[in-house]
Amino acid sequence: MDANDFRRIALSLEGAAEGAHFGQADFRVDGRIFATLAAEKQGFGNLMLSPEQQTIFVSEAPEIFLPIPGGWGRNGATHVRLAPAHEDLLLGALRTAWKLRVEKNQKTRKRAAPTRTRAKSAKKIMELSSLPGNLSRRRVRMKAGVLGSGVVAQVLAAGLVKHGHKVMIGSRDPEKLADWNEKNPQASRGTFAEAAAFGELIVLAVKGLAAAGVLRLAGVHSLAGKTIIDACNPIADAPPVKGVLQFFTGPNQSLMEQLQEEFPEAHFVKAFSSVGNMQMVNPSYAEGRPTMFISGNDADAKKTVTSLLDQFGWDTADMGDVEASRAIEPLCMLWCIPGFVRNEWTHAFKMLRK
Ligand SMILES: NC(=O)c1ccc[n+]([C@@H]2O[C@H](COP(=O)([O-])OP(=O)(O)OC[C@H]3O[C@@H](n4cnc5c(N)ncnc54)[C@H](OP(=O)(O)O)[C@@H]3O)[C@@H](O)[C@H]2O)c1
Repeated sequence: MDANDFRRIALSLEGAAEGAHFGQADFRVDGRIFATLAAEKQGFGNLMLSPEQQTIFVSEAPEIFLPIPGGWGRNGATHVRLAPAHEDLLLGALRTAWKLRVEKNQKTRKRAAPTRTRAKSAKKIMELSSLPGNLSRRRVRMKAGVLGSGVVAQVLAAGLVKHGHKVMIGSRDPEKLADWNEKNPQASRGTFAEAAAFGELIVLAVKGLAAAGVLRLAGVHSLAGKTIIDACNPIADAPPVKGVLQFFTGPNQSLMEQLQEEFPEAHFVKAFSSVGNMQMVNPSYAEGRPTMFISGNDADAKKTVTSLLDQFGWDTADMGDVEASRAIEPLCMLWCIPGFVRNEWTHAFKMLRK
């Protein structure tokens, strides 16, 4: 096992979401930490167990479990040596820490009915996740309107639900999303206009040729001032040539520039366009987190999207203003070539730096 396995299993638990504390990944349920990767470099995962649970795990498998040194460890915080651990053991240990956290959360909720602070914007809500200490444990939740009924919209909307956000998914014909909605009952479905009005954050995941038309249906007033994650690619109706997709834009143009020009009040951020839908939410690679290339004119919108990408298990590389979409959108062509030519669809890009 390794850190990616630890992350994958932690995030498979109900309501679990990834967060970060001083740059180190942690795993939370209802905003409270039950496991971390703070000692990843030493080959450990960390579990927040009770002292009694720690004693049992350490006595059962001392070659894998050991108390974290100091006061934290005396309170139950426990290292898991990842290399010798196996899937079932790690699942059992993570589930124990997760269950303890869920039970503690329920007790806290009973003792004091929570006072709900309604954050005013997506940016403000996302900023809460980067605050240290107790503040970072507040529930980080955005209202997201996802425009699209295809596989990308469904995957991203389910990812947002998984990470605790409130979601409405939209289509010209919302009934075609009934099955998705049955599997994701916490979310709702509506028209493009209803989903856009609902979202503080909007995700645009529709056929590239239809993207501007969908935003017109969504309504310009529901887009103004909002961050729009643009996952679309300008793929033409013509078939690929020797595995290379054909675009309806030229090399010195991009779809997102066209959208930004038509909807100047919206803050478009290109993201998720250069990876297959199966890898979009918390992908697991032996080499660590892959890189999502983003672009857009608004720094705060990019900050919001960067926080979201962090939850979704991605490193972010900001390539600059909207014009950088001219370089990001064709990454989709590059990404698809191994798929069309060799039926390989599981890769992702990673930026290496010295
Ligand atoms: N597939 C992937 O793995 C992947 C990966 C990265 C990026 N992308 C990009 O993500 C976007 C979504 O891809 P997808 O495969 O999920 O879905 P898609 O089949 O490309 O698009 C389906 C969506 O487009 C809308 N649409 C199609 N024609 C329309 C029209 N004439 N007017 C209004 N809406 C129309 C549909 O609306 P209704 O709901 O009303 O039918 C539906 O919501 C694309 O731009 C694609 O290039 C795809």
